[in-house]
Amino acid sequence: MVEWATLNRSGEFMWPRDAAAKAGQVRRRAVRHERLRGEGSAGTAGTGLEEASSPVTAWFPGQAWRDAAACAAFLSAMMVITVVAGGAPLEAPADVSVADPSARPEWYFLFLFRLLHLEIFAGSRQFIPAMVLPGAAFGFLILMPFLARWKFGHRVNVFAVCAGVAGYGLLTAWTWVHDWRDPGQRAAMVQAKKEATRARTLAVKMDGLPSGGMAAVLAGDAYTQGPRLFAQKCASCHAYDGHNGQGRPLATPASAADLAGFGSRQWLSEFLDPAHLVTPKYWGGTGFVKPSEGEKVSKMVTFVTEDVAGYSAVEKSHLEKVVLALSGEAGLPGQAAVDARDATLIEEGRRLLGEEGLACTDCHAWREETSGRPVLDGWGSRQWMIDFIHDPAHDRFYGTRNDRMPSYGVKGELTPDQIGMIVDWLRGDAP
Ligand code: HEC
Ligand code: HEC
Repeated sequence: MVEWATLNRSGEFMWPRDAAAKAGQVRRRAVRHERLRGEGSAGTAGTGLEEASSPVTAWFPGQAWRDAAACAAFLSAMMVITVVAGGAPLEAPADVSVADPSARPEWYFLFLFRLLHLEIFAGSRQFIPAMVLPGAAFGFLILMPFLARWKFGHRVNVFAVCAGVAGYGLLTAWTWVHDWRDPGQRAAMVQAKKEATRARTLAVKMDGLPSGGMAAVLAGDAYTQGPRLFAQKCASCHAYDGHNGQGRPLATPASAADLAGFGSRQWLSEFLDPAHLVTPKYWGGTGFVKPSEGEKVSKMVTFVTEDVAGYSAVEKSHLEKVVLALSGEAGLPGQAAVDARDATLIEEGRRLLGEEGLACTDCHAWREETSGRPVLDGWGSRQWMIDFIHDPAHDRFYGTRNDRMPSYGVKGELTPDQIGMIVDWLRGDAP
């Protein structure tokens, strides 16, 4: 027979042997009691049992030690679980400046979260799950011992506890399934993990926290703020690797270039490829490919779809070098090694941008030898991107031909720090 420790009626923790011994003692006493009164046999000692069920041994020291041992075992188990699970989950500090609909409470409060977000409790009825239901539940808890005095009340108690546990489980499971089926929520959870990892990486690198705490550090961190700002400000037109910068699907289809890897060799070679430039991933959604009435298709688009499309093998190899040269202007951190390796090809590419090569200089300013826009000097570099986002309609960039992109800096929609963080994240994330 398996032996289980039990709690006796007065709430003490007992080993089965003790429980059995105690019951035996009680029964023997009851039998003795009844023999003395000369009535009945041991078999009918039911009422006697109840009368005699007071504890026979003192709680101290024996039972106290057992209780202590049980507590110690419980604590040790908790400690093992904590160590195995790597401690309490350390997430990125919440940023109160952004409303985050993907935020979730700990799993054991998900039921309440779901209740709060049920359609029937929307709007002014939110006080029902927030106040009335928890109040009623606690009120019932207080009433339970009193109800238990009646048989019917006891049944009500048992039923209520079962229903409560089932409802708790169902609401929790419902939230999990609901979240799992929502790609936006899933992406948000991945993003939250990324931010947590980033916060921990920074914390380890730092020698103590500044007075503002981790939230202050993250407020100035390009890898935390870059994707956020991108999702808020840029994702209405641009995608980032197909998503909104934070891994969520775009609310509306992208109408400007996908900026993942902007400045890199791959981005540029696809941009200059007739098969890619006119697709939504590059300029397919812009006025350059689909001009509004009275406007013409951009000269850059006709240049790529007509001239580049008809390039000879030699010209194609020239274009490859031009790509290396122009992408080299960007000076991406992730490309530093290959840029250094290809220094001679890059030098050649710079020359091929001009008249003796592919004559990009017919239309673009380059090394102050020619005029025209967008100026290609420093294309994609940190400063170029900052200046561009500050004012894409500047004469150096798109001037009057600027399609729809707002001049974030000029209008004060983004601070220089914010622009810097978007740029650093975009550039740092590129290959
Ligand atoms: C209303 C739409 C819109 C928004 C919002 C927008 N852009 Fe643009 N963006 C464009 C268009 C259109 C172009 C193409 C060039 C032009 O017209 O300025 C462009 C071009 C760019 C380019 C150069 C690459 C290219 O295709 O020429 C960069 C870099 C860029 N945007 C960054 C951003 C960043 C960063 C944000 C957010 C802070 C942003 N954009 C917000 C529409 C937008
Ligand atoms: C016939 C004129 C013309 C030629 C030739 C030309 N471009 Fe352009 N390019 C433009 C125009 C114009 C734009 C801006 C879009 C607009 O205003 O229609 C542009 C835009 C660009 C951009 C986008 C800048 C950005 O990030 O927003 C790049 C990169 C570029 N050109 C590279 C080149 C390269 C490399 C060559 C040579 C292989 C070249 N262009 C040849 C006219 C030209």
